[in-house]
Amino acid sequence: MNTNVNDQMKNEEKNKLVKEIVARHMHSKGALIPVLHEVQESYGYLPDEIQEKIAKEMNISKSEVFGVISFYSHFATKPAGKYKISVCMGTACYVKGAGAVLDKLKETLRVKVGQTTEDGEFTLEECRCLGCCGLAPVLTVNGKVYGRLTIDDVDTILESYKKDGGIA
Ligand code: FES
Repeated sequence: MNTNVNDQMKNEEKNKLVKEIVARHMHSKGALIPVLHEVQESYGYLPDEIQEKIAKEMNISKSEVFGVISFYSHFATKPAGKYKISVCMGTACYVKGAGAVLDKLKETLRVKVGQTTEDGEFTLEECRCLGCCGLAPVLTVNGKVYGRLTIDDVDTILESYKKDGGIA
């Protein structure tokens, strides 16, 4: 489901989506996290109005909902960016300097892991072993693999997406 479709979803459709998901989890202990996962999976992200609907449906405060969302980097309050950058933090990549590459991306894009840049272009994520440890450290941009990275490669990669409109 893309973001535009979600944005056009009618209010009653959003209510129905949240109601159904909450109803499925309401009787299990610690229902909020699975509810948030499932709503994000279906809706794409967790904007303010969706947080309000979840709080209302679960009979809890919105600040409780927001507290959990802001604690876990997996949850997004904005739609995903045009380009999803996933930095592998698996062991092979980590020992070869993936942390420094990730730090450079955070600094350049001015986001934390799980966040999207202000212009909606890039979403930064971490992942575990992409299965190409021989190329460590590795990142992907919308699935395209970049390996044997140094921090100097970060600007070049980002620039190629800014200038050329991304993946050919
Ligand atoms: S640990 Fe990064 S690709 Fe395997």
